[in-house]
Amino acid sequence: MKSNLIVLLICAFTGLSFTSERVLYLLYPSHFPAPTYNLTDNPLLQESIDLGQMLFYDPILSKDYSISCASCHSPYNAFAHTDHDLSHGINDSIGTRNAPALFNLAWQTSFMWDGAVNHLDMQSLAPLSHPSEMGENIKDVVEKLSNTMRYRTAFYNAWADSLPTGERFLKSITQFQLTLISATAKYDRVMAGNDVLSPQEAMGYALFKDHCGSCHTEPLFSSYGFSKNGLPVDTTLDDYGRYRVTKNDEDSLLFKIPSLRNLSYTFPYMHDGRYLKLNEVLNHYNILEAGMIDDSALSRPMNLSSKDKVDLISFLMTLNDTAFVLNPQNKFPQSLQMRSKN
Ligand code: HEC
Ligand code: HEC
Repeated sequence: MKSNLIVLLICAFTGLSFTSERVLYLLYPSHFPAPTYNLTDNPLLQESIDLGQMLFYDPILSKDYSISCASCHSPYNAFAHTDHDLSHGINDSIGTRNAPALFNLAWQTSFMWDGAVNHLDMQSLAPLSHPSEMGENIKDVVEKLSNTMRYRTAFYNAWADSLPTGERFLKSITQFQLTLISATAKYDRVMAGNDVLSPQEAMGYALFKDHCGSCHTEPLFSSYGFSKNGLPVDTTLDDYGRYRVTKNDEDSLLFKIPSLRNLSYTFPYMHDGRYLKLNEVLNHYNILEAGMIDDSALSRPMNLSSKDKVDLISFLMTLNDTAFVLNPQNKFPQSLQMRSKN
């Protein structure tokens, strides 16, 4: 009885729960919709999640052993990269976009700012082979892993076979990323009836629903669709977003709508990291002229006063999920701490 309870408590903390056998399933609050990732194609096991976590933190994935996924997606920043507006990869090369935060990926069906990738299992191939990110290829990574005792053991534990393959590699990284669930912010406690918004936060919430909620939809704070939000194009980067993928004129300047959870940890903001502060973001939305964007929320001037901006930001702060950001289970794993050649 007691040990069951402990298991349940641990699960509630990690966002995982057990079914009858070894297979785990994702735990999320009742105000969340069902995840879209199809777990029957990639059943969660603790051993493959652990393997995925090792891979995520291991620079063995890059050509010169210098860059891991976590170099650009830091757990202390809700898995975004706050030092840089544009991402930095091997040989100090600079990318063209800001590294997005990683959480609630189980609810998303398009990845990258332009939706260039449409399945989470395929996503890792992009940074792995990108010349200014990890500069590697999957064949060589699998080879490096096969030559490492620690990984042969980990693949055996996860996949009942010590042979690393591309598919097992990709599915294991996915499994770790699926467990990154941000659902324990003040907002979530309020939704569960365990907390209340302060009067200022409640005023901010009303403004949010009026001006922001059509794109940054509750409870994930993004519809995870694509939209314009009126940013002028940076002429150096020349990034037209979704248009790059579809080549349809109507997709010009559409970007994937980011979640507004954990904003205190994920600056700088926007696809190119052009804004450092939320006040700058609100000033941008506030100057948009009527009719500029074809969305009910952005097709009329917002006329936010200084007080409105402060109220709105105080509501946005209720979306910070400190328990998620501090969760030691998501950080650099013990299994990588003992560095050995093999
Ligand atoms: C050099 C920095 C860098 C490295 C290393 C890196 N990423 Fe990224 N990541 C980015 C950037 C930048 C983007 C956005 C790219 C774009 O929109 O074109 C991104 C996007 C993503 C996304 C899509 C998120 C979303 O909301 O659409 C996921 C998932 C992701 N990375 C996971 C990983 C994994 C797993 C690894 C390791 C295999 C990794 N990244 C390595 C910089 C990096
Ligand atoms: C019409 C849809 C739409 C509406 C309405 C909207 N946004 Fe956005 N928002 C976006 C898109 C699209 C992006 C990404 C744009 C980019 O990077 O080029 C974005 C980006 C952001 C970001 C940056 C997040 C990050 O991680 O980089 C913040 C913060 C933000 N919006 C806050 C708000 C607030 C606050 C409101 C209401 C005042 C609002 N948005 C209204 C579509 C919208």
